[in-house]
Amino acid sequence: MELSKRLARVQPSATLSINAKAQQLRREGVRVVNFAVGEPDFDTPAHVKQAAVQALHFDRTRYTPVSGIPELKQAVCDWIRDFYGLNYSPSSVLVSCGGKHAIYNVLQAILNPGDEVIIPAPYWVSYPEMVALCDGVPVIVDCDFEKDYKLTPALLENAITDKTRLVILNSPSNPTGCYYDRDELVELVAVLNKHPHVTVLSDDIYSHILFNNRKWVNVAMVDETMLPRTVIIQAVSKTYAMTGWRIGFAVGPEEIISAASTVQSQSTSNPCSIAQWAAIAALRGDQTCVARMAEEFENRCQYLVERLRQIPGVKCVEPQGAFYAFPDVSAFYGKKYDGIVVRNSVEMAEYLIDKANVAVVPGSAFGNDRCIRLSFALSWNELEEGLNRIDTALKALR
Ligand SMILES: Cc1ncc(COP(=O)(O)O)c(C=O)c1O
Repeated sequence: MELSKRLARVQPSATLSINAKAQQLRREGVRVVNFAVGEPDFDTPAHVKQAAVQALHFDRTRYTPVSGIPELKQAVCDWIRDFYGLNYSPSSVLVSCGGKHAIYNVLQAILNPGDEVIIPAPYWVSYPEMVALCDGVPVIVDCDFEKDYKLTPALLENAITDKTRLVILNSPSNPTGCYYDRDELVELVAVLNKHPHVTVLSDDIYSHILFNNRKWVNVAMVDETMLPRTVIIQAVSKTYAMTGWRIGFAVGPEEIISAASTVQSQSTSNPCSIAQWAAIAALRGDQTCVARMAEEFENRCQYLVERLRQIPGVKCVEPQGAFYAFPDVSAFYGKKYDGIVVRNSVEMAEYLIDKANVAVVPGSAFGNDRCIRLSFALSWNELEEGLNRIDTALKALR
């Protein structure tokens, strides 16, 4: 059967397929250490689960307004005010089925065929594919290891054309953990101020998982003139260990939010009613669970990076947030095992799963073939065991 031509430009999610392979091996009884996970290994807080149970008891089980219940939209505004120091009204908020869905709705709402979207690489796997699905043109900008994989003002300036509609910033980043501090954002905004036709999609979904006492900041916070052309993406997924509940938000100029709501109204309608009530409990409830989780990720991060850097040939930027490390393993490319040469990140991931039963995601999925992505949303035992296996496997390559 002939399928849509649009789909020919889109790859299936590599992270989901590696995870599936790891799960299959586990079902076969193999002890796999899965560094490919993209979600916190903590339980959703008890008070959030309780709110969902209560929502069921109160029969909050019908359609809700397409863009979310007013109580949740107000909770998002209050949460953003407290955390960002920015004031939004509920009409600036769209509640979607996860941050991913929120991004997709916004892209559908603002992109015309041929519009360019600047995506610094390494990037989150879905950005270029979603842009392509919306008939936009992903403009990938390679960022250097030496600059902690961050977009510099010069790289940004170089990438902007008359057709640029959007630039996507993701801090702290999946997959590198890189974080833009205030000074770096001020410099990027100085470039953006010369190009008022460019809007920023600020994917902030790891904002609450920050290390080394970093303070939260994004483009709109360093310069409020950016507010009319910044769309913030947030979600309860990573911050409150609620990946399966599928609640995320787009927050920004009313015109864009209203258009994105129209997209949602003709595709999914409202996100799950019960999950929306649970999200209110997450945003308004006790926040100590968030700090505890971030502290635990920071400790694991230190251990992981230290162990990786002890392996001769591995280079790794120190993550400043989120729960991923992105080591450069390209020094091992060209080396062999059982007569087979490992030539790139996909073959490295295959080698590690086949020979060491360790699942990682190839860096090529994130636009950098020199690296592999390791999540540290794993128990300490698994972290230690997995790193022992990686250490042995890499040293076995000749
Ligand atoms: C950078 C980034 N943005 C957005 C998302 C989507 O999150 P959600 O699960 O809320 O859809 C993810 C999930 O992995 C992510 O890493």
